[in-house]
Amino acid sequence: MKKKYRKLIWLFLPALIIIFVGLQWNTWFINPPEPAYSPSQAPDQILLTWSDNAANSRDVTWQGDTITKSGSLELLDDSNVADTVRYQSTSRIIKTSGGASAFFRVGMKNLTPSGSYKYRVANGIHWSEWYNFKMAAKSDSLFSFLYFGDVQDSVNGKTGEIFHKAAENLPNAAFMVFIGDIVERPHNAYWAEWFRAGGKLFKTIPVIATPGNHEFYKGLIQKLDQRWSAHFSIPQNGPPNFHESACYWDYQNTRFISLDSNGIQSIPSALEQRRWLKSVLETTNQKWIVVIMHHSLYSTTRGHDYFYLRTLFKPLFDQFNVDFVLSGHDHVYGRAAHLPNDFNKGKQGPVYVVSHTSPKFYDIGFSDKMDKMATNTAMYQLFDVGKDSIRFRAFTFDGTYFDGLTIKKDAEGNRSVIVNSPPSSAEYLKPSERFLRKSSKNEVDRYFKDLEEWEKTK
Ligand SMILES: [Fe+2]
Repeated sequence: MKKKYRKLIWLFLPALIIIFVGLQWNTWFINPPEPAYSPSQAPDQILLTWSDNAANSRDVTWQGDTITKSGSLELLDDSNVADTVRYQSTSRIIKTSGGASAFFRVGMKNLTPSGSYKYRVANGIHWSEWYNFKMAAKSDSLFSFLYFGDVQDSVNGKTGEIFHKAAENLPNAAFMVFIGDIVERPHNAYWAEWFRAGGKLFKTIPVIATPGNHEFYKGLIQKLDQRWSAHFSIPQNGPPNFHESACYWDYQNTRFISLDSNGIQSIPSALEQRRWLKSVLETTNQKWIVVIMHHSLYSTTRGHDYFYLRTLFKPLFDQFNVDFVLSGHDHVYGRAAHLPNDFNKGKQGPVYVVSHTSPKFYDIGFSDKMDKMATNTAMYQLFDVGKDSIRFRAFTFDGTYFDGLTIKKDAEGNRSVIVNSPPSSAEYLKPSERFLRKSSKNEVDRYFKDLEEWEKTK
């Protein structure tokens, strides 16, 4: 390149960077003010979850106004209804620019395997209705769970329909996993919307979650909304600086590991999570390992690529034979089941799934890593975990079976993947109207060329 052109580039580059940062300033750094809200006197935003041993404990968290200083929970064992156990909870006040709420939490310990229970909670004298929940059988190695990607619904949205359809499709779900971006913004109105959408399900089936970027306040250093750890009673076994956002839990024969991908905002925070992940992987003898993290190692959105996550975590996922990595963030469905294991040569790498339940659809980025992809639809996923196999199924918003596979694992840990995926409609690979409107002819041509090339590899 000629010297004078190089000079020109160096002259204009800082100006271009300043203009770009200026255009992105609001998106990156400005938090829209939270509208004023008043929490109710009666218990609200009640959630069944856990923080201790999933086999014999459950937690309940709920919200109330700041006048009530103490909360109560009454627990009834269906096999011994004469004996009500009463728990007390102190309040944790959380103030935001929109208002202040009290949050309560009770941990119920020593619950019986296969036990069936009822509970209700109170703020002072204001009691909720009774809710049921069931514990898993001790020797039962088979269980099912639901996996939902980003929600980010608007107030009075329709995402609740997908939660309920999924629960109807898997009536014995042991718990629900959410992969972050539950709320559009860290505002009470959006939390209230998520609870409204979940309704009774969230009070009767345990919910456990990993945070996404929308649960963080924007800024040079992003901060997690305090309501996250008030709602989700996170198992306290994460890395020291991520006790509110990263954790692991064992359920029957499976270790679940939740990484805080949005909390990786510096090299030390990345290395801290990596060190912790390694220790959690090398100390488990569980048959199955499932990792949940908001951002994916293999992005499905046009223009997204979280290469640093691949650098950090893929070697460990391969070394310790992780079975599934479940993600969100991209608002495009993708599933990769045939990636090589770079550490244990000859074995398969994890199955990677990216999904969302949101009414917002992003532009698909065709990835040769993905065996199946979809945009223009929200999805939900079901898992049936057995002694020697895991069955995974993905459904579209209208309940159509879209994708599925079964992983089988022998006694030596060798895995095979049997895909059971019906042909899908071209509708799910179409560019959005928005993309067609905003893009140049070259970009649109490029889209269809990428699609053609991706389809050739399938
Ligand atoms: Fe996200």
